[in-house]
Amino acid sequence: MADLLAVHESAISGELTIRVREAVRSFRTGATLTPVLRGFTADFRAGELTLVVGPSGSGKTTALGLLGGLLRPDSGSVHALGQDLTSLSPRELEGFRLRHCGFVFQSFNLFSALTAREQVMLVLQYLGHPPEAVRPDADAALAEVGLSARADLRPQALSGGEKQRVAIARALCKRPRILLADEPTSALDRENGENIAGLLREIAHRRGATVVAVTHDPRLLRHADRILEIEDGRIVRERTSALESL
Ligand SMILES: Nc1ncnc2c1ncn2[C@@H]1O[C@H](COP(=O)(O)OP(=O)(O)O)[C@@H](O)[C@H]1O
Ligand SMILES: [Mg+2]
Repeated sequence: MADLLAVHESAISGELTIRVREAVRSFRTGATLTPVLRGFTADFRAGELTLVVGPSGSGKTTALGLLGGLLRPDSGSVHALGQDLTSLSPRELEGFRLRHCGFVFQSFNLFSALTAREQVMLVLQYLGHPPEAVRPDADAALAEVGLSARADLRPQALSGGEKQRVAIARALCKRPRILLADEPTSALDRENGENIAGLLREIAHRRGATVVAVTHDPRLLRHADRILEIEDGRIVRERTSALESL
């Protein structure tokens, strides 16, 4: 595999990579239809950390699902990396996700029996690479998140911040052009949370990846290149830097 640390060949920082227009999405529970996204419109760019900030229930997780092809809008459009995601079949959408998207979650989602290195290797093996071939790439991904010295440890021996770094290494190891993080710092204390936000920004800048994190934590704002505020399922405000709000 190519050098993990190399900037993605086709990434041009600032390039518009994801475009969502007037996305509407509701969920049905029994007879009740709950509208969650109500005309969500937003642009996301390569080489930037975009934070989508809003209160619980405002539609952040649902919006992230649209960007990564986990969910379809009921109406409206989602274009990502030049593809109209709403026109893809479920199988094509899964292919898009596997090839291009890395996901990071609040709860880390690590396997308790596996070391940090094995968690990352597993992803590469799942993609079809033989175990002996993936170890260097797993180690490179762990180095990128500052965890080289912890590669042989299992989750119970790692701090919360370290666990989230393993999860980020796992998302990064396949060199996704899109990295999506759902409340990645919610389970962390302030210092670790800010370190993780800084790491996500570094990854966007260094790799030219499109990095989107959703959060309700205003402490992360200063780490973002761009901030989108979501309320009741739509973006109500956009800022390019937290300083603009001062
Ligand atoms: N799969 C689902 N089925 C039913 N309702 C859902 C589902 N997903 C989300 N919702 C509803 O949509 C609302 C907003 O969802 P979500 O996108 O998770 O918001 P956020 O991530 O900002 O907290 C939730 O309060 C919930 O009631
Ligand atoms: Mg959520």
